[in-house]
Amino acid sequence: MLKGDTPQTGEPENTGSPRHVAIIMDGNGRWAAARGLPRAEGHRRGVEALRKVLRAAHELGISYLTIFSFSSENWSRPASEIGDLFGLLRRFIRNDLASLHSDGVCVRIIGEREGLEPDIKALLKEAEDLTRHNTRLTLVVAFNYGSRHEIAHAAQRLAVEVAEGKRDPATITAETLGSYLDAPDIPDPDLIIRTSGEQRLSNFLMWQAAYSELVFVPIHWPDFDKAALEGAIAEYATRERRFGGLIAKTGS
Ligand code: FPP
Repeated sequence: MLKGDTPQTGEPENTGSPRHVAIIMDGNGRWAAARGLPRAEGHRRGVEALRKVLRAAHELGISYLTIFSFSSENWSRPASEIGDLFGLLRRFIRNDLASLHSDGVCVRIIGEREGLEPDIKALLKEAEDLTRHNTRLTLVVAFNYGSRHEIAHAAQRLAVEVAEGKRDPATITAETLGSYLDAPDIPDPDLIIRTSGEQRLSNFLMWQAAYSELVFVPIHWPDFDKAALEGAIAEYATRERRFGGLIAKTGS
């Protein structure tokens, strides 16, 4: 077996309660179109769903919640929609940061910050700096994020170390590369949920998802709520997690 083929941050057992849940919040546009509303309204309702799900995650004892809020591929959308999504992120941080902080939420950001507007970069940094020492729940916001870019960037940094003679290529393992990703201290997601019925990862956490359980929910993100999260967790609890071995790591 190649070193590094096991999960990188410890093998989480399936106790029925995922420690880390990651969500692809899909279907805002279709939710709006079905109601004759502009797509922007779907995204706005998506932020409301996010607030509810954050509260539910607290209540359900989830330690890490990762959300895909803007992908590196979303730049191909019309400029007006990109503006709407950036506006929502700005408002979310300005309006919700104080309450996230008082609720003990630690905000982390993954994704490429280079090239983002200076005020967005400053808001992302402010959110991370203010909440750095909070421990109740970690909210990982994937913003301008794409896995291929994240992995390529990690490889690039390792290549520089090799070129500078600081690293022997033979010492590079999967663990080494994993430790150069955007948030190497955060455990791999136990459960990845995608709403709206689509069944793919779309360049989200592809490295970290090696042993994640995937649950696809047929409702659009603005309608996703605590009951839907509990439903996805119930589905997760039925899964046997073997991590490539023979013995199921179940505890539920
Ligand atoms: C997918 O729906 C969703 C997105 C591209 C963005 C998700 C963003 C939010 C919920 C709001 C912003 C988040 C924060 C943290 C402020 P879609 O537009 O692809 O829907 P469709 O597939 O039905 O068109």
